[in-house]
Amino acid sequence: MCGIFAYSGKQKNAGELVIRGLKKLEYRGYDSWGVAYQAPEKLGLLRKVGKIGEFNLEYNKMPESTLAIGHSRWATHGGVTEANAHPHTNAEGTIAIVHNGIIENYQELKKELEEKGYIFKSQTDTETIVHLLDLYCKTDDFVSAAKKTLARLHGRYAVLAVKTGEHKIIAARRGSPLIIGVGENEHFIASDIPAFLEYTQQIMYLDDNEMVVINDKPHFYNLETQEEVEKRVVTIDLKPESAEKGNFAHFMIKEIMEQKDTIYRAINQNDTDILKLAEEIKKAYGTFFVGCGTAGKVCLAASYVFAKVAKRHVNVVVGSEFPSHQDFLKEKSLVVAVSQSGETADTLEAIEVAKKKGAKVLSIVNVVGSTMDRMSDYTIHIKAGPEKAVASTKATTSQLAILTLLAYACNNDLQEGKRLLIETAGQINDMLNPRYEEHIQKLADKIKNVESMYVIGKSVNYPIALEAAIKLQEVSYIHAEGFAGGELKHGPIALISEGTPCIVLVANDETRQDILNNAQEVKARGGYIIGISPQQESVFDYWIKVPDAGMASSLVNIIPIQLLAYHLAVLRQNNPDMPRNLAKSVTVK
Ligand code: F6R
Repeated sequence: MCGIFAYSGKQKNAGELVIRGLKKLEYRGYDSWGVAYQAPEKLGLLRKVGKIGEFNLEYNKMPESTLAIGHSRWATHGGVTEANAHPHTNAEGTIAIVHNGIIENYQELKKELEEKGYIFKSQTDTETIVHLLDLYCKTDDFVSAAKKTLARLHGRYAVLAVKTGEHKIIAARRGSPLIIGVGENEHFIASDIPAFLEYTQQIMYLDDNEMVVINDKPHFYNLETQEEVEKRVVTIDLKPESAEKGNFAHFMIKEIMEQKDTIYRAINQNDTDILKLAEEIKKAYGTFFVGCGTAGKVCLAASYVFAKVAKRHVNVVVGSEFPSHQDFLKEKSLVVAVSQSGETADTLEAIEVAKKKGAKVLSIVNVVGSTMDRMSDYTIHIKAGPEKAVASTKATTSQLAILTLLAYACNNDLQEGKRLLIETAGQINDMLNPRYEEHIQKLADKIKNVESMYVIGKSVNYPIALEAAIKLQEVSYIHAEGFAGGELKHGPIALISEGTPCIVLVANDETRQDILNNAQEVKARGGYIIGISPQQESVFDYWIKVPDAGMASSLVNIIPIQLLAYHLAVLRQNNPDMPRNLAKSVTVK
């Protein structure tokens, strides 16, 4: 949430380079954007409302500069206006900062600064940082002033500062990501690695409560002890093209199609590690699956697989609600955190709560080196490659695959789990063909103007119905809701009228007849029944065939929903990669 990109080095147009980098981070926020570059007299500043992707560098040349910081914003405090866009500057325009996160004590700081005569130009919490820094710069050098400023901030942040006459960038983090890219006589700072992947694969991690001062060489400091910290340069195994759209119209469809391969990659794990982690689950006094949004639905789906395959009860709690459950945590409890980005603030907070209680944490993440990866006792990387569309697709199925594998491993049946998932991966590969997509496109065309739609499922397909609703809502903007099929008659069936689409997720197991009965109840009230099922059933008005995947039915049933959501978005002329009001990687609580 909010993209940060900065450059310091030998290239002659840092401003342009930062704008190009920010375009790659646009999925993190697209309300407004801005860049500050070092100009001889004072800092040059460019800020705009709207998407940076629409800014044409051909027609808007930037002045020469070798140092610049930039930001693409997802609004938290203050509306979407140019005045609220980052970077924010002091009154003289000699200090500029960009920030991702929320400064929880900003009102108190603002009051203090206003009493000292500072005039605020925006409604953001961020502006307090630049005035505070200005205040301390009156008595201290830039680096000491930055340390004093950071010590006053409460909340989560990633923040970058530059000052006229100082050829350096100061960056610090607490809870929001920042990674340093190391080139030859040049450095990049970004919220996410894909932003600088075309220049370097050498990186340095900035950890929480650390600050880095980058001029010729980066100097890292621990903000608690104030001591300098040694850091290693790490080479990452990511190809620049993995973060590009290639020939696809959107990242979302590219990432849906990548599921031909990502499930194989996810389950290609070291058996000994999986068995060791299964033992951790078995010996835990209480296992808590935690995630937010789609990842939370994955946790719920996995709890059914654990119940059925491993005969184990696991607690499922969404990240933001986790603190209310902390009294049940013991030192021997295990928290399994599921996250694509590894940076979601609510899930991170759950981990912090768990660690304070002495519980162990296993993270299932996609982004290697992310905060969750680094703060957990154990991590399983799902290896899906960069997921840039805001709506999660390939990460979802990979997370489901890993948790299914763990459930089988808990039942001392790892090889059986692998066999099932390899077969499912093959079936998904077969599903993702042009004819299948066309069949779903046809359905999208039929229902593209409806006001509401519903999705029902039972057992493991109940959480998938909830996930389906998220997918449909966020990119098509059609009102969609998911229910357990059996719940309809307790209230929601009142919403069904003539022609209301109801997607029915069917698995070829003991739940089949019940969910088909629920579909009949909807049809009897005029509902238009879309069946996602291994076999044709008389109740269906439109049938989308899925393979009979047994315990992996959640993985196959979500694929047509992802395709449907994508095509509805395109037909309704929405940008599926950047849905309104949302952003990838939710780093604020
Ligand atoms: C929806 C979606 C979100 C994320 C949620 C958690 O398509 O992607 O609901 O699942 O914000 O994000 P991660 O997995 O990065 O923790």
